[in-house]
Amino acid sequence: MGKDVIIACDFPGKEQTLEFLDLFKGRKPFVKIGMELFYAEGPDIVREIKARGHKIFLDLKLHDIPNTVKSAMKVLSRLDVDMCNVHAAGASFMMKAAIEGLTREDGSRPLLIAVTQLTSTDQQTMESDILIEKPIDEVVMSYALTAKNAGLDGVVCSPLEAEKVHANCGSDFLTVTPGVRFADGDIGDQKRVMTPAEANRIGSDYIVVGRPITKATDPVVAYERCINEFTGGVD
Ligand code: C5P
Repeated sequence: MGKDVIIACDFPGKEQTLEFLDLFKGRKPFVKIGMELFYAEGPDIVREIKARGHKIFLDLKLHDIPNTVKSAMKVLSRLDVDMCNVHAAGASFMMKAAIEGLTREDGSRPLLIAVTQLTSTDQQTMESDILIEKPIDEVVMSYALTAKNAGLDGVVCSPLEAEKVHANCGSDFLTVTPGVRFADGDIGDQKRVMTPAEANRIGSDYIVVGRPITKATDPVVAYERCINEFTGGVD
């Protein structure tokens, strides 16, 4: 897999999601299915979107004891998704267990990436609520290195961190970055944003884009623009 735009399908149910994907006619964008849609519709929504030919990032952010995560990943491996994730805060044992659970009998498995520090957690919250006093970028880099050493393929991180993650963990360690906005678009509730072209320049491997595409007047045009800016070097 190369650089790609992943559309965050943050819809409440199957009907809205399939209606949205129908707009793309022949095209098969890479899509992200998160907790809302998965909990509403269950594994069938994954099977249905996969059967339509889309690549899927199943964004369920597992975080539990290693044995539980391993068993859950075993179930998810049967869904044939392309990418899934865990919280790096679950630590090495949990991340290694996740890989074991995810690996099929023939040795294949979806890409597994780690959530580092949620972008909704800032330095102050980290210090007051979880008693982590190190600078946040140091914490993110430590999580990324732990994930790499556990055998994971990459991390979800802010686009602002992607460059440093590559410098510390190698250029082949994937960076999947949300918080992307068009230069002339609304930033909504995202605080630290980048355009697709900037995300490309700083080396993001995948950008996760929701509302700039899902809420656009013409989502297909917005998607094409995103792909062009991210992969074609168009500003
Ligand atoms: O609509 P928008 O482009 O902001 O959507 C971004 C997507 O990426 C959402 O599904 C959101 O949950 C997800 N995400 C994020 N920030 C993170 C991790 C995930 O925005 N740190």
